[in-house]
Amino acid sequence: MPRTALPPLLLPALGRDGAEPLQRQLYLALRAVILQGRLAVGGRLPSSRALAAQLGISRNTVLAAYGQLQAEGYVDSRPASGLTVAALDTGPARTDPIPALCGERRISRRAAVLGAGMGGDTADALPLSPRGSDAALFPAREWSRLLARRWRRPGAALLAGGDAAGYLPLRQAIAEHLGRSRGVRCVAGQVVVVSGSQQALDLAARLLLDPGEGAWIEEPGYTGLKAALRAAGAVPMPVPVDGLGFDPRAAERQGGGARAAFITPSHQFPTGATMPVERRLALIDWAAHSGGWIVEDDYDSDFRYGGPPLAALQGLDPGQRTLYCGTFSKSMFPGLRLGWLVVPPDLVAPLLALRAAADGAPPLLGQAAMADFMAEGLFQAHLRRLRAAYGERRAAVLAAARTHLGGLADISAGEAGTHILAWLPEGADDQAVAKAARAQGVGPAPLGRYRLLPGRPGLILGYAAWTPAGLEAAVVVLARILRS
Ligand SMILES: Cc1ncc(COP(=O)(O)O)c(C=O)c1O
Repeated sequence: MPRTALPPLLLPALGRDGAEPLQRQLYLALRAVILQGRLAVGGRLPSSRALAAQLGISRNTVLAAYGQLQAEGYVDSRPASGLTVAALDTGPARTDPIPALCGERRISRRAAVLGAGMGGDTADALPLSPRGSDAALFPAREWSRLLARRWRRPGAALLAGGDAAGYLPLRQAIAEHLGRSRGVRCVAGQVVVVSGSQQALDLAARLLLDPGEGAWIEEPGYTGLKAALRAAGAVPMPVPVDGLGFDPRAAERQGGGARAAFITPSHQFPTGATMPVERRLALIDWAAHSGGWIVEDDYDSDFRYGGPPLAALQGLDPGQRTLYCGTFSKSMFPGLRLGWLVVPPDLVAPLLALRAAADGAPPLLGQAAMADFMAEGLFQAHLRRLRAAYGERRAAVLAAARTHLGGLADISAGEAGTHILAWLPEGADDQAVAKAARAQGVGPAPLGRYRLLPGRPGLILGYAAWTPAGLEAAVVVLARILRS
């Protein structure tokens, strides 16, 4: 029997700002319709095709929402009539579980300010995006073997969850790796496993600063750091960097009574500058005399292509006023959400108390697999392969920039990391160029996004996730846009 067309179902408009997936919004709206009795028991839901057309969304989104309703028993599937409202156990639950928003809805000023600045970065998967990573280079087979081995006989300890500081064998492996490759002076007891350096920055800001206190930051500098400081109620105090990175003397001349300095001395983000030893020692001296703290974000120095390898600043600080963070996001994959924060011994306990308030402890399975990956020597082998591939890609993007961007941009590359910087002429609008590039399938990040103060415009060109040929093609597109 052919099904007759149903009148459109009255549903609230779905938000398109990405705050809540469309599928979940639709599921909640349909569930409300059912629980409020606006569709009677046995009443038919529109076909997925019709509802998708009505709402201007994909049919898969509708099917996913329908699937969830069916799994939870709100609807039945009948061969001839499609989905119908199931007979629910009525009673108090049959009222709308999502009451309308009403009354004063004040949230903290800092959450409101941070929330208003959210969104917009959708270029991660496009060539030249600085955040891209190449799944093809990841040893997925080895990784899945380690995960499976752990999961085959998980044991009570793995299921129970772990230490707020992280899985001890991983902390030991990290301490050993950092000592050997970065000159960091620490023992495993000082290493706290976090969900990427972003959580390290957030925890460090809350550990070191009270609301209203200031912290020096690099200008231009990492946006995630500014967000972490603001979320802690602290005040970012931008200090312009030069070709040698952060300048502690310039910061002191600026004054303002900063309580901490958050810096990327090995490979300044995003200019790529390396901070020389004299400046490192001057900053350590400032911390010792002022009672301030240094937070060193060593986010990408697993990748170094030439020049003398400079050890981490943390290893130079005899007064132990430096906290050191890093991440597996670049050396493994960003979705792993694993990184570290190394703190002086006296800060371990207060840090763990703060951490316990936020997320208890980091998830164990990924940590255990990561510890195995390091213990079996697979991490070092993977780093060697990545360095070779990234070195080739870096050479390719630099050659393409020399060939195609001559007269349009000045390139600075630094000796490490996974991105280079194309400085644009004064007066150029880097955000507009990045937007035009996105429209043509290329994803450089505008330098303006990382600035609090006015300064020379530029584009950050990531090269880690694309082949030499793909990088050259993307640079050609960029050159065309810059010439137009
Ligand atoms: C300078 C800097 N710090 C921290 C991070 C945070 O990385 P994650 O939280 O993925 O470890 C990034 C990410 O790109 C970064 O560029």
